[in-house]
Amino acid sequence: MKRTTFLLVFGVILSFSQAQLDTGGEETGGEEEHVELFTTPATKMGAATSDFGYNLFRALASQEAATNVFLAPISVSAALTQLSMGGSEQAQRQLFRALRYHTLQDPQLHNTLKDLLASVRTPGKGLSTAARIYLSRRLRPKQDFFGLVEQQYGVRPKALSGGPKDVTEINNWVSQETGGKVQRLLTKPLPRNSGVNTVSAAYFKGKWVTRFGQSGAMENFQVDGGVPVRIPMMQQDNYPVKMGADSDLSCTIVQIQMQDDVSMFVFLPDEVTSNMTLLEESLTAEFVQDLSMTLLPAQVFLSLPALRLSYSTDLLPLLSDLGLSDWLADTDLDKISTQSAKLASLNHKVAMETVPEGNQYPSAASSAHLSYRVDRPFLYLIRDESSGALLFIGRVVNPKDLMI
Ligand SMILES: *[C@@H]1O[C@H](CO)[C@@H](O)[C@H](O)[C@H]1NC(C)=O
Repeated sequence: MKRTTFLLVFGVILSFSQAQLDTGGEETGGEEEHVELFTTPATKMGAATSDFGYNLFRALASQEAATNVFLAPISVSAALTQLSMGGSEQAQRQLFRALRYHTLQDPQLHNTLKDLLASVRTPGKGLSTAARIYLSRRLRPKQDFFGLVEQQYGVRPKALSGGPKDVTEINNWVSQETGGKVQRLLTKPLPRNSGVNTVSAAYFKGKWVTRFGQSGAMENFQVDGGVPVRIPMMQQDNYPVKMGADSDLSCTIVQIQMQDDVSMFVFLPDEVTSNMTLLEESLTAEFVQDLSMTLLPAQVFLSLPALRLSYSTDLLPLLSDLGLSDWLADTDLDKISTQSAKLASLNHKVAMETVPEGNQYPSAASSAHLSYRVDRPFLYLIRDESSGALLFIGRVVNPKDLMI
């Protein structure tokens, strides 16, 4: 249903551009049957981590209404999955449900996740991530658990010493894992006797396939209910994208190819608005996979903010929105410590940069004159195309607030 609307509207866009029609039109026929979109363990895991990510993003975006918000969900999946190894069977089941692993029926779940994490962290993709569990000093750790997590995910949980050095130690580790790009994950000491703390972090700096010729020109960016702000933009004419409009969601979507099979999806509302609730509500792994198959090639004048951002938050309060209230009230981390232990924090920090560089120059002029100017609040996501995994997601309401 949604897809049909999408294609219909698409016809309109295509009549402006001269993109090939022959790739699109045939999909309207009677295929309402559910088509299995995710068939391999890797793509199923990609979909599960993405759906968890969209749920988490929705929770964050609705809590932080009308502000910039960012997440690298796959690093949060990694942290919570490590944590799940320390829970009772029931605690694990609850956590797996929130992480969407119950959809996988994958007996090799941990290996599948490990492989996925390794593949999205190959250097060409531009993503680095970190995820680790820290135990407060009062907890007597169970070494078996430490060994298990280290063996599976290559990161050994750590017992803290309880002093001011803890913050430095955690921040240094995160910085090291992200090539120095995520600094000062913690800005204040963890509460004393806090219990179990997890940290997750990510840095993303991908490279476009097609480079931008012009960068840094200051342009106006419209702000919902405020005066426009001046921000640096990257611009390029005849830029190859995939594109479509969604009339239900009142937005136009482009997919921009990055190197090593990564891409950026931008959702640009027709109006200047910081309320993207409708759009946020519709995000699922399946919806985005559908998009990647229905958006059609076009060449546009593309104008994109030059982003440099850093964002941090404690995600713990959001977990109850993901069906984990019971789990939080009675976190049974009995494999982690001999004492009763609860999750005390889920600190998350991300950083991201976009730069104009790419391998290819855009091809010579076409006569179509579509333009796509990301000069008002928008939502974007970075996706690994081979697994479909959501790497990064953000809502940009006022890019001026982001400059770091
Ligand atoms: C945001 O949009 C949704 C859906 O269109 C609407 O129900 C809601 O009231 C809006 N929120 C605000 C604060 O305007």
